[in-house]
Amino acid sequence: MATWWEHAVFYQVYPRSFRDSNGDGVGDLDGVTAGLDYLSSLGVDALWLNPVMVSPMADHGYDVADPRDVDPLFGDLDALDRLLDSAHARGIRITMDLVPNHTSSAHPWFVEALANPARRDRYIFRDGRGPDGSVPPNNWVSIFGGPAWTRVTEPDGTPGQWYLHLFDAAQPDLNWDNPEVFDDLEKTLRFWLDRGVDGFRIDVAHGMAKPPGLPDMSVVDTAVLRNSDDDPRFDNESVHDIHRFIRTVFDDYPDAVAVGEVWVRGNEQFAKYLRPDELHLGFNFRLVQADYDADEIRDAIDNALAAAALAGATPTWTLSNHDVEREVTRYGGGARGLARARAMALVMLALPGAVFIYNGEELGLPNVELPDAVLQDPVWERSGHTERGRDGCRVPMPWQGSEAPFGFSTNPDTWLPIPANWATLTVAHQEHDPDSTLAFYRRAVQLRSSRSEFGGNGIDWLDGLTFRRPGGLVCVLNAGATALPLPAGEVLLASGPLVDGTVPPDTAVWLV
Ligand code: GLC
Repeated sequence: MATWWEHAVFYQVYPRSFRDSNGDGVGDLDGVTAGLDYLSSLGVDALWLNPVMVSPMADHGYDVADPRDVDPLFGDLDALDRLLDSAHARGIRITMDLVPNHTSSAHPWFVEALANPARRDRYIFRDGRGPDGSVPPNNWVSIFGGPAWTRVTEPDGTPGQWYLHLFDAAQPDLNWDNPEVFDDLEKTLRFWLDRGVDGFRIDVAHGMAKPPGLPDMSVVDTAVLRNSDDDPRFDNESVHDIHRFIRTVFDDYPDAVAVGEVWVRGNEQFAKYLRPDELHLGFNFRLVQADYDADEIRDAIDNALAAAALAGATPTWTLSNHDVEREVTRYGGGARGLARARAMALVMLALPGAVFIYNGEELGLPNVELPDAVLQDPVWERSGHTERGRDGCRVPMPWQGSEAPFGFSTNPDTWLPIPANWATLTVAHQEHDPDSTLAFYRRAVQLRSSRSEFGGNGIDWLDGLTFRRPGGLVCVLNAGATALPLPAGEVLLASGPLVDGTVPPDTAVWLV
């Protein structure tokens, strides 16, 4: 059965940073609704909203205190309904973020667990090691830096047990051996799906299940925000039971999609998440991890296709998100970084499957070097100020005007400052320039969804980084240092100027 997401262009909205409707300097749901015409003109099929549930915002919403309500910072349930209605009226679907690996430490379950040691089984509490229990139960570290265990003070005031948190101490990991955790997730899924939400991106979909006995990890895996396939904290076999359970709920909503955040590199391991009774889609991060290098790019594409094919699933493509450095900067920054980012966007949009664009990518936004004083990512504190964290890719979108906050908010004091030199990157500025990155993205998305040459699954490599889709589209990427001859055919779109009938370095082109 054909499904809407098989060729969909998803647009990731980081709600804090998209658009602020109430002047508090932080983006919100009514801001997203106000931006829907813009998103329609970009031609996207669906949005993925980062978490908007009730949260103390220790990790900007990935610490959920009430999974079945909207945080006042972003609006309320009515604001979500307004967004759903307005988006659906434009044919745009809305997917939300689901955080099943952990809750906030402000969640009533955790508050109860602290107050009453007999009510700790929804989380992972253990006694410490050593004669006085002062050594953590194992040597695991947090993905955000520092230990993955925090010791609690018991109700009688004595130092007590430890609880596990793979992320911040304000994000205690749930115990997925407890059936109550399953029941509650089902309630959450049905709550939003019944409201008309079109699916979920599932956070840390390779986490959740912990290895029996919680064995120590090897010290080589301790780097902050790093993923490796032999890390005992992730990708444990029983995680698949959880996905099968989630899928049984989704099967009651046949038009809803489950997209997992699966930081697993090995194709066979990755494909397991996409079996017919598990996730519909899994984020494949190989393109994010590839340098701007011909061999690495081709290898990433081949492996992402191979991994999806192993499960008969739809491939997915993404160049960036709210956790990684923006690609303009990753590829070298400046004019060259931007040229490469545009070229890679053309490659990504030429590939078969579902594509995810991260807000601001269509404007060519670079990462921002923020001053220490404004950094908010818990990674900055937890790493002892050795890792700056992810704030640099989360700076609010510039919409219009010549001064910050560029129409993002009426309040100049935005939650992260917007660089003054983004005046030429605003939506309004780019809308008037036919060569702008925004104009380029609009054209690319429109061609991708309207031309039959993008049909068919799979690709055939012709030469170097040139491939052909079964429908006839040819995509050429020049990741080398010298110009390439332009193949025969009609040029549909190029990521930069084609000079004297050649494809210059750092340029991609579509032909039919
Ligand atoms: C995922 C999210 C990230 C968050 C983490 C903990 O990796 O993408 O932003 O910090 O999970 O929930």
